[in-house]
Amino acid sequence: MTTGRTPTPFPFMEAPIGVFDSGYGGLTILRYLRKLLPEYDFLYLGDNARAPYGKHSLPTIYEYAREAVSHLFACGCPMVIIACNTVSAHALRLLQQVDLPTSSDPSRRILGVIRPTVERLGELTRNGHVGILATPATVKSNTYLLEVNRLHPEIQLTQQAPKMWVSLIEGGEYQANEGVNYFVRRNIEELLRKDPRIDTIQLACTHYPVLLPRIREFVRDDIVIAEQGMIVAESTQKYLQRHPEMERRLSKNGISHFLTTEEDGEFAEMAGLFLHARLAEDMVDQVQLR
Ligand code: DGL
Repeated sequence: MTTGRTPTPFPFMEAPIGVFDSGYGGLTILRYLRKLLPEYDFLYLGDNARAPYGKHSLPTIYEYAREAVSHLFACGCPMVIIACNTVSAHALRLLQQVDLPTSSDPSRRILGVIRPTVERLGELTRNGHVGILATPATVKSNTYLLEVNRLHPEIQLTQQAPKMWVSLIEGGEYQANEGVNYFVRRNIEELLRKDPRIDTIQLACTHYPVLLPRIREFVRDDIVIAEQGMIVAESTQKYLQRHPEMERRLSKNGISHFLTTEEDGEFAEMAGLFLHARLAEDMVDQVQLR
């Protein structure tokens, strides 16, 4: 983790909330953060050049996440939301407990998306049978199983890891077509075969909400499909209410800016679709991590 703060390249947003994902997925969280907390500034970082993270090992995911969070801190963010389940599952604890305390400003904060999601599960399911769709790395970490067992031991959780979904989405393939439908249907059917009593499916990868219309086609109407965007936005709002010392540090101009490790023109176009907002090209900068 970097030790100092380089002069911020964004004088128009002195202390934004950092939002980080492997690629476009975190934008499905940022969309709700901007809706619920419109007065704050947000700096989004998508490591599109190295996505998907979900196929990587723990040390690689941790290393990439350290570089990304360091970058956001160096840009002036007092707090960073890891808008990625894969990183939250594999690196959040290490970032919070190893890297942050030894950094130049241990009063900065790093928040994840798994805890708030699991807290909500108890309110969503009626019969206690929940399915989660997550990346192979998130499923392999068993973080959701452990958290659910701790917070809601009455819930029976079944996991399914679609291998192709993030790659399809990062490649812009998420509208209805034969290939996309095939991969969506296959994974939904497998999940529901493992536990036919599932009444709630939690999307536990921030990329997946853009596939929601496809997923809905293969799921019975009485099954609830839950996204994470509003859940994370509400838990961030509550966090800021509980922590006025952090709230006071954040700049409030209502501005968002975007960083990507890939080509910035393409990012602006794709990100607009995820965010349901138009992004001007000068709102995006290409950056190199490490
Ligand atoms: N958006 C990430 C998540 O929530 C996807 C990770 C990836 O495979 O790049 O897990």
